Amino acid sequence: MIVILIGYMASGKSSLGKLLSKKVNYQFIDLDHYIEEKENRSVSEIFRTEGEIYFRKLESVYLKKIIENSNNLILSVGGGTPCYSGNMDTILKAKNVKSIYLQSSLEKLVKRLKRNKSKRPLIAHIETDALLNEFIGKHLFERSQFYEQANIKIATDNKPKKEIVKELVSTLL
Ligand code: S3P
Repeated sequence: MIVILIGYMASGKSSLGKLLSKKVNYQFIDLDHYIEEKENRSVSEIFRTEGEIYFRKLESVYLKKIIENSNNLILSVGGGTPCYSGNMDTILKAKNVKSIYLQSSLEKLVKRLKRNKSKRPLIAHIETDALLNEFIGKHLFERSQFYEQANIKIATDNKPKKEIVKELVSTLL
């Protein structure tokens, strides 16, 4: 089985994915890191030099490649992955794939992203808290229609990581 963790930036896809992979003894791949390794540069650099559309093409190609060639894998994808290039359909139609939406509230996401936006090309340039709030609010609203299609939804607010991992494991049984 391949478990794909989806959700907005800073929803915990990578850190929870890593923990889950250890618990169930599956391989773990973070799609952004995978792209960075294959392309030999950071996601921010790809955005800066080639633009977002180029990144979206790469993202879709590598997503398909990984799905076609893996098993017993936990895959965390980027916040935008399900929202472009028919990727959510690819995820939903693939045999042997379970998709899980890690759902965080707008408030929690804004709080985490405020501290940690410099490496995120989509929000790095947003200067004030008010503008960041507005951007994330709209963006999350637009993207939720994709995230909500996941096979399983797990609300993560105010839950310790350990508990979320337990819930994740139980969905795999
Ligand atoms: C993006 C999220 C990022 C990364 C890129 C674009 C997005 O991944 O793929 O910066 O469109 O939401 P994380 O969700 O892991 O931050």
